Amino acid sequence: MSGPSIADMLAAVPIPALVVDLGERIIAANADARTLLGQQIVGRHFTTILRQPDLAEAIEATLRDLRPRQARYLTNDGAQDASFDVYCRMVPQSRVMLVSFQDVTHLEQAGQMRRDFVANVSHELRTPLTALIGFIETLRGAASDDAAARDRFLAIMQDEAGRMNRLVGDLLSLSRVEGEERVRPREEVDLSGQLGSVLNSLRPLAEEAGVAFWFDKPEAAVIIPGDADQLRQVFTNLIENAIKYGGSGGAVNVIVTVSERDPTLRAPAVRVQVIDRGPGIDPMHLPRLTERFYRADSHRSRQLGGTGLGLAIVKHIVNRHRGRLRVESTLGEGATFTVILPSAGASG
Ligand SMILES: Nc1ncnc2c1ncn2[C@@H]1O[C@H](COP(=O)(O)OP(=O)(O)OP(=O)(O)O)[C@@H](O)[C@H]1O
Ligand SMILES: [Mg+2]
Repeated sequence: MSGPSIADMLAAVPIPALVVDLGERIIAANADARTLLGQQIVGRHFTTILRQPDLAEAIEATLRDLRPRQARYLTNDGAQDASFDVYCRMVPQSRVMLVSFQDVTHLEQAGQMRRDFVANVSHELRTPLTALIGFIETLRGAASDDAAARDRFLAIMQDEAGRMNRLVGDLLSLSRVEGEERVRPREEVDLSGQLGSVLNSLRPLAEEAGVAFWFDKPEAAVIIPGDADQLRQVFTNLIENAIKYGGSGGAVNVIVTVSERDPTLRAPAVRVQVIDRGPGIDPMHLPRLTERFYRADSHRSRQLGGTGLGLAIVKHIVNRHRGRLRVESTLGEGATFTVILPSAGASG
């Protein structure tokens, strides 16, 4: 009776894997291992293929004392760096060793993103906190008897505390949206109604900035599957940005169009466009605009109390709705933010 060959067994292993014998030769490798390390690796001495010292040492040591070992293998597939945890284990009752490669690139990337995120959040919190600490010291010391200075400082402290409060609120809503991103929203939302009410609540801000709203919507109500609160947040963020950054153009247009077959979604969809006539956004910023804490004009954004999270929240909510966010802008002519949302409860 003959069982499956080593090569057959390896073919069923779902990650790159190869077998090395006590003579230090690679005697079998599956297709994933050949893709990773080269097509002609079978028959070669392992040190000619796996040259990274840590890994080579681990393999040698396991062949010597038969004890399992683990090492890191770093590579670059031409486009990006990849990291593998490599396991060296003797196959029981045999004189060969299985070397398997577990891709941990995504774990490492997630770890890096987490570290960047914590660094960003700390930095964003530290700025207002430093201001607060400074003013508290001043109020307890030099300015303790100066009523006018006290009022001025308290006003600034209120602003800074407000900024921290907004930041924490935005972080929480971002994490909430991310947490539910895979759950499709099922409420029925009256889109034009929501937009009308968002415009109403932003009217004071618009008036202060000298901005007039133009709202174009279909006669009939536009009802789509969605999460009403979240969609409200999307439109609030976009229209608020249009006022804050594009307000110098004097007008913000909000246009709702319904289509039976949207060319982007290839399905029935609604497009909501928020258009301003302000300074626009330099094209170099567009690809990164929806990243957390990314600001095109960071001085102006901070001055206006922005946290740089608004568009990140928009993007996640739109994703959750299986929609798309488009940003177009010509410098000096304003910006157009388009949200495309599926209008029928199609699966997907
Ligand atoms: N309509 C617009 N015109 C010009 N620049 C814009 C416009 N909308 C957004 N931006 C730029 O994109 C950046 C990111 O916007 P986002 O809404 O994510 O953050 P924010 O407005 O700075 O802070 P937040 O929305 O959290 O208060 C802004 O800082 C601004 O530089
Ligand atoms: Mg914003």
